[in-house]
Amino acid sequence: MLDDPAAARLAEILAAHEGLEGPLLPILHAVQAEWGHIPDWTVPAIARALNLGRAEVHGVVSFYHDFRDAPAGRHVVRLCAAEACQAQGGRALAAALCDRLGLGMGETAADGSVTLEPVYCLGLCAAGPAALVDGQPLARATPDAILETVRC
Ligand code: FES
Repeated sequence: MLDDPAAARLAEILAAHEGLEGPLLPILHAVQAEWGHIPDWTVPAIARALNLGRAEVHGVVSFYHDFRDAPAGRHVVRLCAAEACQAQGGRALAAALCDRLGLGMGETAADGSVTLEPVYCLGLCAAGPAALVDGQPLARATPDAILETVRC
């Protein structure tokens, strides 16, 4: 449900990007920075402001892995799913973490403690499998090292 302060904040974000060439991605980044995800209620207003269809805005949100359509957990674990890390145990790492957290890739724990999601290359290809835990890169990641970091 939309409350007035939230609508006012969205209007500020839209106004701040008025006249910018290619404003959709900067607006979505600003919205996600404000609310931690792209709330459904923002999509019609963004679409209207940019003279786009809602489906176009939804399409961009779902295309880019960095945008969320739901709030993330308190900790965000991103596991590299790109080729070099897959060759260095990335699949086993993902399977072990999914098992220990009781989550599928792309899911958030019901208690909101952690979100587990894939990412495609973190620039640590020679030291895989790589992970990003709450924004901090982790080379040669293991389930224990990741779980210790998020203190699950
Ligand atoms: S392939 Fe995993 S960090 Fe590059």
